[in-house]
Amino acid sequence: MSIEIDVLNGDASWPLVEPLFTAVWPPDVVAKLPWGRFAFAYPEWRVLVRADSEAVVSHVGIQRREVTWNGRKMRAGGIGGVLTREDSRRRGYTLKDEGATDFALLFCEPHNAPFYVGRGWKPFDGEIYCDQPEGRIRFRATAPHVYKLKRAPLGGVIDLCGQPW
Ligand SMILES: CC(C)(COP(=O)(O)OP(=O)(O)OC[C@H]1O[C@@H](n2cnc3c(N)ncnc32)[C@H](O)[C@@H]1OP(=O)(O)O)[C@@H](O)C(=O)NCCC(=O)NCCS
Repeated sequence: MSIEIDVLNGDASWPLVEPLFTAVWPPDVVAKLPWGRFAFAYPEWRVLVRADSEAVVSHVGIQRREVTWNGRKMRAGGIGGVLTREDSRRRGYTLKDEGATDFALLFCEPHNAPFYVGRGWKPFDGEIYCDQPEGRIRFRATAPHVYKLKRAPLGGVIDLCGQPW
């Protein structure tokens, strides 16, 4: 089996990945998840894995965001929408790379935390704030994890300065 990996503009590539999102996270499933009621930012880029030049079987959304950590501006690489089609899992398609910024940050449900910890991500033990349509909130729906690039903030206060991912 051959695979192709593309990095595409987030908005333009949405039609390519929508079937994967609908298959893994149909609306009735999302509605019951701890993060289902929150508004999320759209990724700037999407990394797509296609098997045998066919449908997209794996996806990671990426964005760069200027956040604050304990009031200080930092560049975060946001990782979100990590998902692989059920019939294509356990083949190592799930991507973990991120570009040049201070640190990478993702949020996951507790049952997925060992997957990321096993790949070098560390739990962030502080407080996360973000924007929602109703205003600024403390975000506790999913567990933040940090991947060290230049820095590895593991505690304190991170303000996402926008919607979460
Ligand atoms: C999380 C997900 C992307 C992993 O996909 P995958 O194809 O299994 O990942 P890979 O093939 O790259 O890695 C497989 C390895 O990760 C491990 N793994 C997968 N999910 C895991 C989990 N939840 N906890 C611990 N380890 C996990 C597997 O045991 C396997 O380990 P091995 O290589 O030692 O055998 C996939 O299960 C998925 O799409 N889930 C639904 C969407 C989701 O919850 N996404 C996460 C959002 S934060």
